[in-house]
Amino acid sequence: MNIILMGLPGAGKGTQSEHISKDYPMVHIATGDIFRSAIKNETPLGLEAKKYTDNGNLVPDEITNKLVKERLSQADVQEQGFMLDGYPRTIDQAQALDQNLQDLGQKIDHVIYIDVDPEVLKERLSGRIVCANCGATYHKIFNPPKVDGVCDVCGSTEFVQREDDKPEKVGHRIQLQYDTTRPILEHYDQLGLLTRINGEQPIENVYREVRNILGE
Ligand code: AP5
Ligand code: MG
Ligand code: ZN
Repeated sequence: MNIILMGLPGAGKGTQSEHISKDYPMVHIATGDIFRSAIKNETPLGLEAKKYTDNGNLVPDEITNKLVKERLSQADVQEQGFMLDGYPRTIDQAQALDQNLQDLGQKIDHVIYIDVDPEVLKERLSGRIVCANCGATYHKIFNPPKVDGVCDVCGSTEFVQREDDKPEKVGHRIQLQYDTTRPILEHYDQLGLLTRINGEQPIENVYREVRNILGE
């Protein structure tokens, strides 16, 4: 199965993908995670991407499309399917993806849009903390670790705030993606692939709706 998770910054794409990964085999491909890892390792891709991601701007389509194209052609994705998180994010990316999938003889089964009001998103992003070791995502109030200050996944006690979650950057990110998202939703709606779900529910309830779409 091949799916796309869409939603504005903070809608819960990463959070839902952590749940999906426990129950379904698809390979999680999150362009934001790939860029953050490249930045941390100071690779040429990371040095280029940092110019954009730090300010909440989009990395140029040319770079992002090439990266995803390469990843989609790898053996694990061919065997297990993919779960795209944060891509496509422009109509050019959606068209490039259609072409690449056609070349690979693959198709998209579901596009899930996690719908959350922009005001709610600001609150979520400003309270987000990420495990410095394994990258697991938490929220100080809405989704804290089970044991205070200890990562559920890896036991690390070090948490960080993402550079682009600083209060002065959050509004810009949401606005930018609000504008670029609509034509992509229309594109997938016309293809009959799109389901919108209410992202303003507890995480478990959102996940129940995701499961209903994906099937057992
Ligand atoms: P990316 O990492 O994809 O960031 P984003 O789209 O801004 O999305 P987020 O990761 O912030 O939100 P999320 O939906 O994953 O929410 P989460 O589950 O963490 O991209 C970063 C940057 O990389 C971009 O700005 C751009 O520069 C670049 N980039 C990436 N892809 C690109 C592309 N295709 N083209 C060009 N550039 C690209 O949840 C958020 C918080 O809310 C957490 O604290 C969580 O615990 C909490 N939460 C989640 N669900 C709920 C709930 N139901 N109720 C209460 N709290 C909840
Ligand atoms: Mg994310
Ligand atoms: Zn961890």
